[in-house]
Amino acid sequence: MPQELRDFIAKMEADRPDEVLHIQDEVDPKYDVTGVMLEAERHGHYPLFLFHRIKGSDLPVVTGVLSHRKRFADALGVPLEQATQTYIRRSVNRIAPSEIRKAPFHANVQTGSEVDLTKLPILTYFPVDPAPYITAAMVVTRDPITGTDTLGYHRCMVKCKNRLGISLHGRRRVWEYQLRAEELKQDLPAAICIGLHPIHSLASMALLPYDESKFQLIGGLFGEPMEVARCATLDLMVPAWSEIVLEGRILSGVREPEGPFSEFTGYASYRSTRHVFLVEAVSYRDKPLYQSICSGFAGDLNTIMGFTRETDVIEAVRRTVPNVKAVHVPISGCGIFHCYISIKKTAEGQPQQAIYAAFGIDHGCKLVIVVDDDVDVFDEKDVLWAMSTRMQGDRSIMVMPRSMGVILDPSTTEQGVTTKVGIDSTRPLGPYAQRLELSVDTKVRAAKLWEEAQVQMRR
Ligand SMILES: Cc1cc2nc3c(=O)[nH]c(=O)nc-3n(C[C@H](O)[C@H](O)[C@H](O)COP(=O)(O)O)c2cc1C
Repeated sequence: MPQELRDFIAKMEADRPDEVLHIQDEVDPKYDVTGVMLEAERHGHYPLFLFHRIKGSDLPVVTGVLSHRKRFADALGVPLEQATQTYIRRSVNRIAPSEIRKAPFHANVQTGSEVDLTKLPILTYFPVDPAPYITAAMVVTRDPITGTDTLGYHRCMVKCKNRLGISLHGRRRVWEYQLRAEELKQDLPAAICIGLHPIHSLASMALLPYDESKFQLIGGLFGEPMEVARCATLDLMVPAWSEIVLEGRILSGVREPEGPFSEFTGYASYRSTRHVFLVEAVSYRDKPLYQSICSGFAGDLNTIMGFTRETDVIEAVRRTVPNVKAVHVPISGCGIFHCYISIKKTAEGQPQQAIYAAFGIDHGCKLVIVVDDDVDVFDEKDVLWAMSTRMQGDRSIMVMPRSMGVILDPSTTEQGVTTKVGIDSTRPLGPYAQRLELSVDTKVRAAKLWEEAQVQMRR
């Protein structure tokens, strides 16, 4: 499978042209792209956008690549209903990466005083942002102790031509590797890759042990080795088909103001780890595509975060509860804080077991609602209905105070300490009120009648 963003876009243009929107009008790099994307979302549309003319730059911006979960299915090459299971099945099959000697991004390399980030169409998303931000900044680096590679998105604020503020607030691998480098009094060599096939985005969110390679997981998801190439100036392997690569290092012992930033929570976030990334080289393909991921409470970012987490939770809950039907980490919970799990309950206590398992997976998760298997976890109205008719406050709610949370969640303490809540919204085993249901025959007949009625209405 081609491992490049360009090919993914070309396939979408061929298969679902109505989901690729070309904007030829000139737009301002400040706020216009956010405005258009949020307007589309307001109307229930999640297209992939290509903005061809950004004021002040010659490069086009592609955005909304992953704004709808359908795109993950496209990336995996399967129908939507098979996406979760396909991810789980392929992710256990780890494949080592293979090196491409001459990668497209080697075509143009700028170093030293040639480095000028202001030439890129880096966008400003909301008025609260003090500077342009690279939001699709996939940071690739290596553990200075074990040599394990990693890649993950981390917001980057442009400070000047070659200096970025970077926040590692998720406190995951890049954060830990930087900490380890700092203890050795070393800068952490790193590359920021922009413009990637969505499989890289999916895998970047995976929760692997700190000494396991994400590159091998990407290979498993592609079903063939991930193609990597050496950076132009660093001894570091990065996705070979990257559009743009910023090479440099996260400075040891240096902290500078960064933010506030329009975060995925829908709030301006003033919390940051205040790290600094010095850019020492920029390499890029001929006519590169600049990728953006819409900030703020938007489908673009929150869908990416939610999808991979669903697969992790399914896997974890399955180890302890026999009949897990589905898991949904919804956009309404910012793609991280809430999790709905449906199970076919065969023993009392299983919902609580599922709640413990989900909380054990991701410190970001702070509300788990468990429902029966007749409830559609992808329909939030159905989940709330189950809560309203099967939950009782004195016996269905588990509260876990003083837990690790997300520091960007404004309701946590300054250190990100949170209280987690699990809600068992399943029926007790045994006799219970009967849910109203029509027969399949009636539903099929009704669907036909409704279709005909709509045709008549349109006449
Ligand atoms: C678009 C996007 C932007 C993100 N921005 C940040 C960020 O600025 N800082 C952060 O710590 N995590 C951020 N995350 C979450 C991390 O990318 C995620 O936790 C990832 O697994 C971290 O990779 P690592 O374990 O290699 O550090 C972002 C995720 C997405 C999808």
